[in-house]
Amino acid sequence: MIQIAIDGPGGAGKSTISKAIAAKLGIVYVDTGALYRTVGYYVRSKDVDPHDRDGVGALLDEIGIEVKYVDGSQRVFLNGEDLGDKIRTPEMSMYASAVSAIPSVRAFLLETQKDIARKNSVIMDGRDIGTVILPNADVKIYLTASAECRAKRRYDELIAKGQTVTYEDVLREMNERDEADSSREIAPAQAAQDAVVFDNTGMSLEESVAAIIRLIEEKTAGDDDSDENDPPKEENASGKKKAKKEPRTDSRLYRVIYALFSGIVGRFLFRIRVVGRQNEPATGGYLVCGNHTSATDAVVICYGFRKHQVRLMAKKELFKIPVLAPLIRMLGAFPVDRSGNNVSAIKTAVKLLEEGKCMGMFPQGTRHPATDPRTTPVKNGAALIATRAHADVVPVFIMRKNHTFKLFRRTYLVIGEPIPFESFGYDPDANGEYARITNIIFDRICALGEEFAKEQEAKKAAKKK
Ligand code: DC
Repeated sequence: MIQIAIDGPGGAGKSTISKAIAAKLGIVYVDTGALYRTVGYYVRSKDVDPHDRDGVGALLDEIGIEVKYVDGSQRVFLNGEDLGDKIRTPEMSMYASAVSAIPSVRAFLLETQKDIARKNSVIMDGRDIGTVILPNADVKIYLTASAECRAKRRYDELIAKGQTVTYEDVLREMNERDEADSSREIAPAQAAQDAVVFDNTGMSLEESVAAIIRLIEEKTAGDDDSDENDPPKEENASGKKKAKKEPRTDSRLYRVIYALFSGIVGRFLFRIRVVGRQNEPATGGYLVCGNHTSATDAVVICYGFRKHQVRLMAKKELFKIPVLAPLIRMLGAFPVDRSGNNVSAIKTAVKLLEEGKCMGMFPQGTRHPATDPRTTPVKNGAALIATRAHADVVPVFIMRKNHTFKLFRRTYLVIGEPIPFESFGYDPDANGEYARITNIIFDRICALGEEFAKEQEAKKAAKKK
């Protein structure tokens, strides 16, 4: 994963340059100004003064912002509506600047921004990216140009969009906005201490892009910590290679135990076969959900995921069993109280996912008869966790073959395609969302089992012939 932070005043060319770089590197471009513009748009639509902290703060509960990527370009939805260019007017620039000085607005948008960067390699532009949102970014650039040059670019842009503006107005408003953005108390627009300040006055877009790409290459040279034994690099949505390998989040102890036991214990003692390995995500922060028929399911899941440690949610009673308790704790399991008080388990789960770690759980909370998972009810915990953490869900199905001797049964772990969080279409204001999302997850789990059973049957039939 790579994080590139581009800060700077309006009109410096941040978005055009960042888009070009994102396309070249095959990473995601995040325009954070669009989020503030969206809040500004809503505030304007409600006729509230954008400087009125309490008035704006009171509106935040009504605002649902979603960022989606369609054909590689960012779209921001306000309560389900794609605002498109409606947020790109000079008036919206002023509204965005005014609301961006309000702490509750910044807090409101913080998670959305961090979350995108946790899940993707990004080039993110804004005012506080290098200082607040991505303080550990691999590359930080503060892009600027003279006020006149920036105003001329912005003026040309607006005229090209058919808006009626004068250069003088654009320059005056730009200066006002720069002053407000850089002098506000919270997250003022300024270069991070470790940012490279780049002034592109008089440079063309192509020259700026080329110069900044050189800068990024210089800064990231030697960062690629892959070696020839690594698996091939994953391709992302746009088909480009990711720039860097994902750092490991699993504990050293886990890795040692995994290395020592996974081969022998998994393959020969538990006789596990993994189907759908290609579906194991390259980046962490996902929730594994599976069906549950046996006490050894936890081992099966851990065995199946090679790239990340899957920390399992387990019933609290297990944490009272001598020897087993310290062992499962060391392996990252954490307790859940199935009788109802599971607040702390949910908190732990969300925190793990937000840190980019992976966790696993059995949404039914209890074992089901091997014949049919659908006979046991399913609880809403997985949906609750996935929506709180905005995590993708990886469905898995565990199936055991019949054998006269239980010990010799073969176990299959079928890993399904990850269900992206966005695809749930989660609406926090709608009723019954957790049950709806739970059904999506559980249906996927069951479908994996059904599809796999059919394939096995077909294979058997083909053998008989
Ligand atoms: O980049 P832009 O012109 O679309 O941003 C609009 C306003 O949003 C800008 O005047 C200040 C605010 N903003 C911010 O405070 N922090 C960011 N990360 C991005 C934008």
